[in-house]
Amino acid sequence: MPRHMSDNLAAPVMTRAITLHEVSKYYPKQPSPAVDRFSLDIPPGEFLVLLGPSGCGKSTVLRMIAGLEDITTGELLLDGEYSNDLAPGDRRMAMVFQNFALYPSMTSRENIGFPLRFEMPGEEHGARVDETARILGIEEILDRYPGQLSGGERQRVAMGRAISRHPSVFLMDEPLSNLDAKLRAHLRAEIARLTRGMGVTTVYVTHDQAEAMSLGDRVAIMRSGVLQQVSTPREAYHLPENVFVAAFIGTPRINLLQATVLAPLSGGMWIDFGRQRLGLPEPLSYDHQMLRVQQGRRIIVGLRSEAVRIAQPSQAHAGEVVLSGIVEHVEYQGHESLVHLNTGSRPAVVPELEAPRPGTSSQRAGARRVGGGSTGLGKLAQKAARRLQATMPARDGGNGASGGAHSANGSGSGSRPGSAGAPGTPPRPSQAPGQSQVSVLDRPDGGPITQQPGDLVVRTGPDVRVRRGDRVPLLVDLAHLYVFDHEGNRICPAPTGQPRLE
Ligand SMILES: Nc1ncnc2c1ncn2[C@@H]1O[C@H](COP(=O)(O)OP(=O)(O)OP(=O)(O)O)[C@@H](O)[C@H]1O
Ligand SMILES: [Mg+2]
Repeated sequence: MPRHMSDNLAAPVMTRAITLHEVSKYYPKQPSPAVDRFSLDIPPGEFLVLLGPSGCGKSTVLRMIAGLEDITTGELLLDGEYSNDLAPGDRRMAMVFQNFALYPSMTSRENIGFPLRFEMPGEEHGARVDETARILGIEEILDRYPGQLSGGERQRVAMGRAISRHPSVFLMDEPLSNLDAKLRAHLRAEIARLTRGMGVTTVYVTHDQAEAMSLGDRVAIMRSGVLQQVSTPREAYHLPENVFVAAFIGTPRINLLQATVLAPLSGGMWIDFGRQRLGLPEPLSYDHQMLRVQQGRRIIVGLRSEAVRIAQPSQAHAGEVVLSGIVEHVEYQGHESLVHLNTGSRPAVVPELEAPRPGTSSQRAGARRVGGGSTGLGKLAQKAARRLQATMPARDGGNGASGGAHSANGSGSGSRPGSAGAPGTPPRPSQAPGQSQVSVLDRPDGGPITQQPGDLVVRTGPDVRVRRGDRVPLLVDLAHLYVFDHEGNRICPAPTGQPRLE
């Protein structure tokens, strides 16, 4: 078994702070930037995960940090020093890729020692290789060639090649995605232990939200080149800045329902889902009072599957309100069941993340990997999004009520409206991080409500006794009710950093 890095690492590793300030990347002949005014402070020793769907610009950010890709505009600071033009070799960073390339004609020992030939020319580096192999628990395979190793072993050798250099920063781009689920989970834990033991600043790219949540000190969530939120995994789950983050993080995916707020002057407040209304208890909480300004407007309600339970109204606790639904199907998961219900609501769709309710959670996970595009519904959703986008007026973002939601995160904020774009590139509407672009739209298939496969997924114990077609009472925990405005920005719970009413 690999031993603890901290037990073994004799020499303390100098690790670095990384700052990206308003960094954009335009590739030639591409109309929009791959990375758009990306700002982030990564303190020394942090394990930061870059998370987002395929094509959102994660690898481009990583490659700009590594110096493998030019920065079009903006600044990269390493330990506070301007480093845009620093040669990759002078950055003391080690990269581990998804397609870890080992030299096939070299043994594991030679592969691990290879970079040291250049970093420690003329010096004996056998001890460094042995130390690395001990840490990774691969002493027995040091004399084998890559062709004689399993995928997991090869990946460890690739990690070894990065570790042996004693880098000041690790940059990892989906290093585990070629491995099977069990090995991935195992190596994930190992990577976390190793990098924390070394205390080396690590930027880890993945599109797998579960991996991001389990590894990161903080998670930076990207969408279409734009940073959406940077926060601890816990905050990203519990306080998503917008509907995209809410939908991207968590399994099963959060239930997103279209609704309107009814707040008549005569008193009371309801969230109207079309066929059912959810009454908000009086006296209204601060967050619910804030919904009054949405009166008559379209909103999106987010309910995680654990925020709703199947139980009689008489069993309601304080803060729970009543809905009902018809069981569409029950997904047995062993330790729990997921009950798919039809409440007569209209689901909201986040285009890149496909339709909200494909049949099973595994299909959902698959759809998420694809990142929006290959299934029929996904294509429809994207088509509809494009149509909607074409009809949307350009917003001047940056200082609206919805744009200030980022201040509590400590970084990722600070977008400067009006900052220069790349020369010769088309102007884009200014957009602060945390603001979504076109986020949500009507369900694209437009079929009658009764034909939908269910609009709400509820998590229950494994032995739930309900059958398809049963009408069941539901209790909604208002403490876990999210409301997003029609652009997808969270309005309930109220964004942090906003002045509170007395
Ligand atoms: N060399 C290039 N030339 C032109 N466009 C590029 C180039 N490299 C990347 N892109 C584009 O930039 C965008 C971001 O790419 P990037 O590889 O950073 O995405 P990613 O988030 O890492 O995706 P994935 O999860 O699929 O690896 C994509 O639209 C991609 O097509
Ligand atoms: Mg990538």
